[in-house]
Amino acid sequence: MNQKIQSLSGYLHEYQKSIHQPEKFWSRIASSFYWRKSWDRVLSWDFKGPDVKWFENAKLNITENIFEKHLFTHGDKTAIIWEPNDPNEEAIHLSYRQLFEKTCQFSNALEAEGVKKGDRVIIYMPMIPEAAIAMLACARTGAVHSVVFAGFSSSALADRIEDCQAKMVLTSDGNFRGAKNISVKAVVDEALEKTTCVETVIVCQRTKAEVQMKTGRDLWWHDVIKGQPVEHQAVTTDSEDLLFILYTSGSTGKPKGVVHTTGGYMVYSQYSFLNVFQYDQDDVYWCTADIGWITGHSYIIYGPLLSGATTLMFEGVPTYPHVGRFWEIVDKYKVNQFYTAPTAIRALQAHGLEPLEPYKLDSLKVIGSVGEPINEEAWHWYHDHIGKGNCPLVDTWWQTETGGIMISPLAGITPNKPAHASLPLPGIQPIIVDAEGNELKGNNVEGNLCIKFPWPSMIRTTYGDHQRCKDTYFSTYPGMYFTGDGVKRDHDGYLRILGRVDDVMNVSGHRMGTAEVENAINEHPKVIESAVVGFPHDIKGQGIYAYVICDMEGRTESGLIDEIKDTVRKIIGPIAKPDQVQIVSGLPKTRSGKIMRRILRKVASNDFSNLGDTSTLLNPEVVEEIIKGAKIQ
Ligand code: WTA
Repeated sequence: MNQKIQSLSGYLHEYQKSIHQPEKFWSRIASSFYWRKSWDRVLSWDFKGPDVKWFENAKLNITENIFEKHLFTHGDKTAIIWEPNDPNEEAIHLSYRQLFEKTCQFSNALEAEGVKKGDRVIIYMPMIPEAAIAMLACARTGAVHSVVFAGFSSSALADRIEDCQAKMVLTSDGNFRGAKNISVKAVVDEALEKTTCVETVIVCQRTKAEVQMKTGRDLWWHDVIKGQPVEHQAVTTDSEDLLFILYTSGSTGKPKGVVHTTGGYMVYSQYSFLNVFQYDQDDVYWCTADIGWITGHSYIIYGPLLSGATTLMFEGVPTYPHVGRFWEIVDKYKVNQFYTAPTAIRALQAHGLEPLEPYKLDSLKVIGSVGEPINEEAWHWYHDHIGKGNCPLVDTWWQTETGGIMISPLAGITPNKPAHASLPLPGIQPIIVDAEGNELKGNNVEGNLCIKFPWPSMIRTTYGDHQRCKDTYFSTYPGMYFTGDGVKRDHDGYLRILGRVDDVMNVSGHRMGTAEVENAINEHPKVIESAVVGFPHDIKGQGIYAYVICDMEGRTESGLIDEIKDTVRKIIGPIAKPDQVQIVSGLPKTRSGKIMRRILRKVASNDFSNLGDTSTLLNPEVVEEIIKGAKIQ
C-alpha cells in the first residue's frame, strides 16, 4: 500500500519522478508485486513498430498476485460481493480463500478439457461470479481470455470467435436482466454454426432455461468441476505473454482485438485503481460496468482484486425492480466507492429526486464516471445528490487500448472541476496536437489528444493484424499514440475531453463505429447504400442516425425502417440499433465521391444552419430533400 499517493504535492512529486525517470519509477511500483523471476529490463520501446515491452523477461502469474499474495493476510476478507438481478434472491459473498478455491478448481477443469497456455477462450456470460472465476482461471492456466459482452448477437460473437481462433467458449444457459430472461446458450449455438475452431463449450447453469447440449462438444460447468481439486499450481507466464484480447470498435472495418499483456497490465491496473479511488482496506467498492467491457476487466476484476479490495458485482440493471435500485444497493452494502457511466446518471436523473428519498447514501466517499464526456448538468446532479456535495467525483478518461485510467482526478487529492478529467496519472504523458501534428503548448488550447511515451498497460497489438494497430494508432501522428479524442487544456492546465474526432460514436458509453453499423445496414437485401452518424441524445450521450438509400419495391417506408433496425440488431446486437432511420434518394457527395458527413451530422442534430457551400457537391439537390425529410428529435 506504500504506492498510494496522499496529497497534491505528493502527486506532483510522483508525476515528476515518473516523467524524468520512468524506468526507475515503474520498477519501484512493480517491485511490490510477486514475480517468479524479475525483469532484465524495465522498458524497451519504439512507437514506429510499434514495439513495446515492459518488464522484459520477467516471469509471473497474475493470479498469484491476487491470491497467494493476499491469502495469509486476508484470506477471509470478502473479495466479491455478488448482488443478483432479483433483490429477493440471496446475494453471494466470496472470500479471497473461497474465490481462490473456485478459481483453482475451474483451472483444473480447464486443463482437464485440454486448455493450454496461449489458447484463446471466449467468455460469453452474464454478470455472475462464474464469469469472474472464468477470467481468473484462464489467467491462472496461461490461457488468453476474450470476453464478449453477452448482449452481442450470434454473428458478432462468431466474428470474434473466428478472429481469435478460440478453442473453447464459456457461457451460461441464460441471463436474468431486469424483467427479461434472455437466452445465452442458444446464441452460442447459432454462432458455432458459422465457425469451426471451437472444440468445447462449458455451460454454467444460471436461469435453468432449457438448452440444447451437443454431445462431444458441450459440457455443464457443475459437471466439469466435480472432483477437481481446489488447489492448482499456477502456470508461469512471461510478462509480455498475452493476458487477454478485447474486441472494440474503430472507425473502419470490423471490431479489432485489442491485445493486453500480463506484467504491465497487472502493475498499471492495480496502481491506477488504488490511486484514483483512494481505496482503503475496509472499503466496499462498486463499479457498475459489465465485464464485457474494459472497465469491467480493469476495475471490477483485476485492479480491485490485485489490491485486495472488496469488489461488488451486480447482475441486473439500474431500473429493476425500481429506479432506486442502485441506491438501494449502495445502502445495503455500505458502498464506499461508486463508479458508473454518465448515461446511467442521466437516465436516473430523468426520474427526479423522489427515488433517492428512501436512501441515505452516507457510506459513499468517492464517486466516479467513465466512458463518455459527462455534461456539466449530470456532473452537478451526481455530485450534489449522490455524493451529497462532499464526495470527490473522479471523471476518468481512458480507453480499451489504454488498459487503465489515464487522465483523472485522484479522489480527494486533485481539486474537482466539473466535467474535467483534469490531470494525467503518474507515468502518463499526454500531448495536444493540431491536425498537422504540431504540439499545442501552454494553456487555453484545443486539439487532438495523443500520448507521447509508453505506459505499462498500453495496447501491444491488434490480434492477428499488427499493421492495423500501427495504422490506427501510431501512423496519424508518427512517434505518438493517437487516441481519437479531442481535448481542451483550460486556463488552469486542466484537461477536458471533448469527444471523438473520428468516425467512432459513443452510444450510452458503448463504442460503435459508423462503418460497422453501415455494414450491418447494408446486409439488408433492399439497401443500396447507407451513411451513419451520431447525434446528441439527452440520455445516451449520442444516438445513431442512419440515412439509407433503398429499393422500395414491395415495401412501405415504415416497414422497411423496422426491418433495417432489426437487421442491425441481429447482426451486431440491440446496442447498435439506430434511433432514427431516414430513407433518402441520395447521399450528399463530393465530386470525388466522398460522402459529406459534416452535412449529415448537422441535419441529424437538427442544426440546419451553416451547412456550408453545397454547390460544389455532385448532387446538391439531395441536401434540400434530406433537410425536408429530417427526423426531428
Ligand atoms: C470515451 C472506456 C470523456 C472517449 C473506458 C474514449 C470518455 C472512449 C471518458 C473509449 C471520459 C471514456 N470523458 N470521454 N471520462 N472515458 N471516454 O474503449 O471517447 O469503451 O476514446 O473505454 O470513450 O471507450 P472504451
